[in-house]
Amino acid sequence: MAGRITILDETVINRIAAGEVVERPASVVKELVENSIDAEATSIQVDIENGGKKLIRVRDNGTGMSRDDAFLALERHATSKLRTEKDLMGIATMGFRGEALASIASVSQLRLLTCDGNEPAGTEIIIEGGALRKSDGLGLARGTVIEVRNLFFNVPVRRKFLKSPQVEAGHVQEFLTRFALAFPAIGFTYREDGRVRMDTPPVKGTFERIHTLYAKEVRDNLIAAEHSSGTARLHGLVARPPYARSNMRSVLTFVNGRCVRDRVINSAVTKAFANLMERGRFPFAILFLEVPPEEVDVNVHPQKAEVRFINPQQIYDLIVDGIYEALTGAPFNVLKPHREPLLPGAVAATVDHHLREGRRPDEPFVRPKNSSPLPAAAPAQKRGSEPPKTSARDTPEAPGRFASLGVLGALPNSFVVLYSDEELIVMDHHAAHERVLFERLRRTEHEREPSESQDLLIPIVLEFTALETRLLSAHLETLRRVGFSVEEFGDTALVVRGVPGWFGCTDLEDFFRSLVEVMLDTGTKGDPSRLKDELFKKMACNAAVKEASSMRPEEIKHLLRDLDGVGSIDVCPHGRPITARFSLAEIRRKMGRK
Ligand SMILES: Nc1ncnc2c1ncn2[C@@H]1O[C@H](COP(=O)(O)OP(=O)(O)OP(=O)(O)O)[C@@H](O)[C@H]1O
Ligand SMILES: [Mg+2]
Repeated sequence: MAGRITILDETVINRIAAGEVVERPASVVKELVENSIDAEATSIQVDIENGGKKLIRVRDNGTGMSRDDAFLALERHATSKLRTEKDLMGIATMGFRGEALASIASVSQLRLLTCDGNEPAGTEIIIEGGALRKSDGLGLARGTVIEVRNLFFNVPVRRKFLKSPQVEAGHVQEFLTRFALAFPAIGFTYREDGRVRMDTPPVKGTFERIHTLYAKEVRDNLIAAEHSSGTARLHGLVARPPYARSNMRSVLTFVNGRCVRDRVINSAVTKAFANLMERGRFPFAILFLEVPPEEVDVNVHPQKAEVRFINPQQIYDLIVDGIYEALTGAPFNVLKPHREPLLPGAVAATVDHHLREGRRPDEPFVRPKNSSPLPAAAPAQKRGSEPPKTSARDTPEAPGRFASLGVLGALPNSFVVLYSDEELIVMDHHAAHERVLFERLRRTEHEREPSESQDLLIPIVLEFTALETRLLSAHLETLRRVGFSVEEFGDTALVVRGVPGWFGCTDLEDFFRSLVEVMLDTGTKGDPSRLKDELFKKMACNAAVKEASSMRPEEIKHLLRDLDGVGSIDVCPHGRPITARFSLAEIRRKMGRK
């Protein structure tokens, strides 16, 4: 019986490869622009017609190709970028497989014009569905032009799956935006049906590029991130919360210039922005990772859109630390934060005292033992995969970002009003206090001793269902660290013998019930530190001073200093802004003044 297995011919092989490499016009543009970048072009012009379905043209002023190379370039597995297997371990170019041009040529009508500036004439090659139609010599400037017409003309199923010209053009523009960000030294021009959509001259860096690519609103919120760890370096721009977007696509990440999506990077970004974003909101970030080519495998995805890191933990830590440092660094916190005394002493009219003054009838039970009002600031702490907390610095210098603001007072039953030389600032004191409490609660995790607990005169027994009790019991250590003296009491109850100083006047039973709810909502899947953060958020929210309680000026001042002490972050742990700012210029305009 004749064998049933045969080796496929070249055309079929190319067509199959094309199925993986070329998905839509945007993937063609991506491959062609990558080739231009590898050819050291300083100017790249992209034209598309009818969303790229009719025509895609990429013109560059790069090295060009000799006549022989131009023919080879269209063959499968023909590349100038890789010679041996060893080279695969250290790829520094965008391309490396020698597959793109052959794949594109097999599913389109492709015209290649190129000249390397050494040969007397340039070369023109026309290929249709992989078959050579014509080749010629002609006078050309150095560089390469590739025209791809009627993509998928010979694969009707694929052609049918293409979306409307607008959608396809949108994808093209998205890819080009990424290239423009990653390669600021290259000038890009992009036209759709003759209309210029992007025209970015060469500039020095990404930030200048952003000026031509993004709206002012985005630019105004960006802060620079820059961080190194071992052999890897992170640089880029992140938007300061509360600026946020509605999906994770607003996070662009590049590894050695290549735009990739990566699980490690995404979870690090999410981690770094945790507790700074409202639920369902996502950060805006443009991040560049520079990693030695031998420490990252780029050969793991047909469209080169994913990578594998040799040391993912290093990359994770680098990103978390880098972003956190940027967020709690200069622009959040123009001046150095200073350390709050552990015991504020007699002068301190703290928010916490304020809270205690407002105590409800359960107050008499509390016998203050040692009035450490809040879990104390953590000592400078080692960085691990946890986000680094802003370490309080020793020498109190000039007042911090918040403490330098003047206090006007408080609106009746509502917000606090502050001012600076240029702004009128309304502050949500509940959100502010929430942030302070939250940061201090998190710091208890890294302290040697649990926070001080204040004994209740009569221990309180709280009853729960068996499941609730089990959930709470699993977190007794966390509760003790933040200053609760609490134990199991049979299968369906807990006994509370002491509460932390920051606890304020919250109803104990309500408080524990709300923690159970968080435990049920958050679940135990994934990152265990997330549940802890959610618990701390809930505790902070319960204990924070309420909007309706009007604060005295000294209390406001104290709160401002506390905010600086925890990093001057301008959003509450749920991601809501702490301040609303009205510039004097804006107010003058409203007043009809120039
Ligand atoms: N615009 C260009 N300018 C100069 N040379 C080019 C250009 N485009 C392609 N080439 C040459 O043609 C070769 C084949 O290109 P092709 O895109 O098919 O493969 P590759 O870039 O090597 O790898 P990959 O398949 O990963 O993209 C390249 O290695 C390069 O030498
Ligand atoms: Mg290529």
